Amino acid sequence: MLENYCIEGGVPLRGEYRVRGAKNSALPVLAATVCRGGVYEIYDCPRIGDVFSMEEILISLGAKTRWEEDCIIVDSRGVSKSQVPESLMSEMRSSVFLMGSLLARCGEASIYRPGGCNIGKRPIDIHIDGLTQLGFEIEREEEKIWCKGLCRGGKITLAYPSVGATENLMMAALAGDGDTIIENCATEPEICDLQGFLRSAGFQVFGAGSDTVFIKGAGKKRDRNSIESMYFLLEDRIEAATYMMAVLATGGRAVFRNIRPEIMKEVLRCFERMGATIRNFENTIEIYTAAGLKSPGIIVTQPYPGFPTDCQPQMMSLCCFAKGLTTIREEIFESRFSHKNHLIKMGADIESCGKNAIIKGVKSLKGCRTQAQDLRGGAALVIAGLAAEGQTTVENIYHIQRGYEDLEKGLRSLGGFIETTKEERKKEKVQGQSAD
Ligand code: EPZ
Repeated sequence: MLENYCIEGGVPLRGEYRVRGAKNSALPVLAATVCRGGVYEIYDCPRIGDVFSMEEILISLGAKTRWEEDCIIVDSRGVSKSQVPESLMSEMRSSVFLMGSLLARCGEASIYRPGGCNIGKRPIDIHIDGLTQLGFEIEREEEKIWCKGLCRGGKITLAYPSVGATENLMMAALAGDGDTIIENCATEPEICDLQGFLRSAGFQVFGAGSDTVFIKGAGKKRDRNSIESMYFLLEDRIEAATYMMAVLATGGRAVFRNIRPEIMKEVLRCFERMGATIRNFENTIEIYTAAGLKSPGIIVTQPYPGFPTDCQPQMMSLCCFAKGLTTIREEIFESRFSHKNHLIKMGADIESCGKNAIIKGVKSLKGCRTQAQDLRGGAALVIAGLAAEGQTTVENIYHIQRGYEDLEKGLRSLGGFIETTKEERKKEKVQGQSAD
């Protein structure tokens, strides 16, 4: 039985929404609970598919977990295994983070190469190269990768500011006795969150948010006594942007709480170029449009603080309703336009060639039956459905539920006509593809 969203479009979204904790903070932080035995209370943790997959992996390694409302408590004192089961690896690409945290905990790790996914090949060469630069030995056997040996630390440089590789290597470097400097790091806010969590677990990490991170090795003291700590996750800037685009696409007005403007500056600048009015105060943002939307011009996805690739599909939907021509260039992932054809089916005017998509704003879209093919592309179709005329059905919403907690409830709280319906259908499983 698969679930769909059934959406009645044309209703302006209005009201107030509190932004939840960030998926892309929760995943590395949960993996980091393995770095040192302890009992960790992680607050504002989203109840989403990817978090549940990560929870399953932690339990398979010997940890215990339980939930108290939006707090997940992880007891990692019983972690005794260093191998992530293949079945759980294919669930979600972020399981690759366990390599770094297992190396920090027990000096060895074995994982299965995470598959590609609908948005790209998603190699892990930068992760592997960084581990080799740190001094670890890497062995491969088909899809299985072993990593062990001593971490000599020192200065290592990433070939590209990969978010996941930065986070993975921050954790792996804790295994060293000496110190490590990682250069050309990604600077996303979620990396600062991982640093904050590692510090709450007693580790010494500095520089996150800049392109150079310093990690003090904790090798010998790895078996030190366990720790108890509590940590509040960073708010989800991508969830916030997704809801804001739904409000703008439907010509609504809403106030968003628990979101600091400084972590989504480029997205807000885009909204202002489109004619939106944005008022913010500390960690609250109000957004609305008095008139219709106009094209933001050219949007190029870049590593932080550039325009986030995780907002590109949703922005493509929004630009369908914006007057004029918009060019979107996807520089981060090689195939992240899966939503384009579904938008065209709804009446959008979009041409794409390679990394570029040109969107010509139209008066309206017509609701129809569509399919989510990945997390953010699915969210893009929901936005289009909310602003389109008539009814839109979005199938395969399990893609969307991996990264948005209760999207239906959140949009209904803003007056959106959306409900979840069940349908007898087979879940498509493309061989060798993990969730993005
Ligand atoms: C993180 O993925 C996010 N996921 C992604 O969010 C996000 O899109 C991405 O960073 C970019 O911001 C999590 O944090 C859990 P990367 P990650 O390594 O770490 C290439 C979402 O929708 N690359 O920065 O996998 C890679 O193929 C998800 O929430 C290599 O070539 O991203 C891509 O083209 C999707 N070799 C580019 O770098 C490597 O070893 C950026 O990837 C690693 C990456």
